[in-house]
Amino acid sequence: PGPQASAFAPSNIALCKYWGKRDKALNLPINPSLSVSLGQLGSRTELSPIDGAEDRVILNGEVQSLEGGFAAKVVSFLDLFRQPGSPRLQVDTHNNIPTAAGLASSASGFAALMLAVDKLYNFGLSPEQLSAFARLGSGSASRSIFEGFVEWQMGVRDDGMDSHARPLAQSWPNFRIGLLTLTSAAKSVGSRAGMQRTVDTAHLYQSWPLQAAADLERIHQAIEQQDFELLGATAEQNALSMHATMIASWPPLLYWQPESVAAMQQVWALREQGLPLYFTMDAGPNLKLLFQGQDQQAVLKAFPSLQVVAPFEAA
Ligand code: DP6
Repeated sequence: PGPQASAFAPSNIALCKYWGKRDKALNLPINPSLSVSLGQLGSRTELSPIDGAEDRVILNGEVQSLEGGFAAKVVSFLDLFRQPGSPRLQVDTHNNIPTAAGLASSASGFAALMLAVDKLYNFGLSPEQLSAFARLGSGSASRSIFEGFVEWQMGVRDDGMDSHARPLAQSWPNFRIGLLTLTSAAKSVGSRAGMQRTVDTAHLYQSWPLQAAADLERIHQAIEQQDFELLGATAEQNALSMHATMIASWPPLLYWQPESVAAMQQVWALREQGLPLYFTMDAGPNLKLLFQGQDQQAVLKAFPSLQVVAPFEAA
């Protein structure tokens, strides 16, 4: 009964990380962040009105329980945009991102859902509004509304409408991201709970906003000058600084597994030998490698299972 709407949004990897909220309900960040979107890797979501009293949420072909987790978040997100008596919806989402690599599917998932909601209800929202509203589902989803390099400005308003992402103009054709799946070890504390614990318990967190502000500047400069070593070094130090605040939380949050440390040491050894290779890491044990197209063979030789993404090349 009624029309359908479908939309795609890419996943994204932050080079300057979002870690910590000044408003939990609105997902307003304590620091600005900067990411690169992953092109064809992401989520496609289809919305169709259905008969019945409840929404139906399907993820990668499996109907989800509405009791908690992802589906509950999806339903409360939808409720922000519809009248109480309006038809219930089927939300059918497919992720083509390797979930074993620990890539957050919530970023692309909520961005695709927001785009589909805008189409279904003919809201005609601007890209900035779509980004600010996608943020309500998951902070990092604000960045997945756009392609290429994307900055999420933190904003100052209490209502959060100035806390949205914007795309940077620069392209970088030989920029590569390698997704390294090291372990699918048991899921530990998610980003949402993890960043809250860090803000609440780690004194070291006080230095994080300063680190992030300086790194954001340097990454802008690196992109402007297409200075890969500056970009890689800044992103790697930013990720390790974030992890330092996690480790300094109580109870401690150590997302690293022995395989993570071994891969870091391998990256450092290859760099020592002259290969411009860097890494970044999110709230999980797997690394994302940063390198340039001309070094792809050498990187693949060292990490044969690597899944390589070229964010600025057409498919
Ligand atoms: C470590 O966007 O998943 O990946 O806003 O609570 O949904 P919520 O958190 P989320 O956090 C992502 C944290 C990160 C860094 C980043 O992507 O910037």
